[in-house]
Amino acid sequence: MKKAIRKAVFPVAGMGTRFLPATKASPKEMLPIVDKPLIQYAVEEAVAAGIDVMIFVTGRSKGSITDHFDKAYELETELAARGKTETLKIVQEIVPPHVTCVYIRQAEALGLGHAVNCAKAVVGDEPFAVILADDMIDDNHNGCLSQMVHVFDEWQCSILGVEQVDPSETGSYGIVKAHSVETNLGKVDQIVEKPKPAEAPSNLAVVGRYILTPAIFDKLAYVPRGAGGEIQLTDAIAMLLHDEPVLAHEFHGRRYDCGSKLGYLIASVEQGLKHHEVSEQFRDYLKGLSLD
Ligand code: G1P
Repeated sequence: MKKAIRKAVFPVAGMGTRFLPATKASPKEMLPIVDKPLIQYAVEEAVAAGIDVMIFVTGRSKGSITDHFDKAYELETELAARGKTETLKIVQEIVPPHVTCVYIRQAEALGLGHAVNCAKAVVGDEPFAVILADDMIDDNHNGCLSQMVHVFDEWQCSILGVEQVDPSETGSYGIVKAHSVETNLGKVDQIVEKPKPAEAPSNLAVVGRYILTPAIFDKLAYVPRGAGGEIQLTDAIAMLLHDEPVLAHEFHGRRYDCGSKLGYLIASVEQGLKHHEVSEQFRDYLKGLSLD
């Protein structure tokens, strides 16, 4: 019987040091692009892919993420009393009623692999998705994860969202070497975490979208600390390759690296240009800017 992807894990316990002081008391996943926090874009992408259990692996100072996806009685009462029906609807429809949110606390920040392993008991024995909210992906359609779920429906194995990056940037990503099985789809032969350009097996980088089989938990249980002294998801995937096929899907769409200041600014500008309320005025404003 074919398996379906019902659960998504959102590792959100990172410190967000690149955005300090903005992230001193508020998580980086709550940084807004125009009017929605990054984590909401990520959850919306999961919902569009048919996922109905959202598992947040949180840490200290992440209470606002829990609050964001919870009912806000005072705010809702206030908006209702003022007759602000449209705004009330926006607040009430952040997550659809059929979606369940689960929060797990990652007590120590030991890396992405460790964060994913924290979700093991809730994920159980089924394939699941992992979304890193600071990689925001806009495909003008149902989203990158939807594309990957589609691939999973057919292949029933682990799938990594990948894109070509400039060869000088391999040190920021998990890099895969894959051989093509069909258009935009390759079978992964090798995966390395953050290799130097001279050592990288290719320039095909893993972005923050994964579909993983539960066998990954067997690997995460004993994977040694890797790059940066952290328990790396990439290293566990490298072990998984020996037992199971793993595919790399070159998704359609535009990825913004919102974990970097420049990527975040680019996302804000491009999404601002598409936003129904401000696009026209914002475009005029940008046109009028005299840049040297
Ligand atoms: C993590 C992963 C890396 C992946 C990247 C995508 O790195 O470890 O393999 O390519 O996310 O954004 P991080 O950006 O958390 O350092």
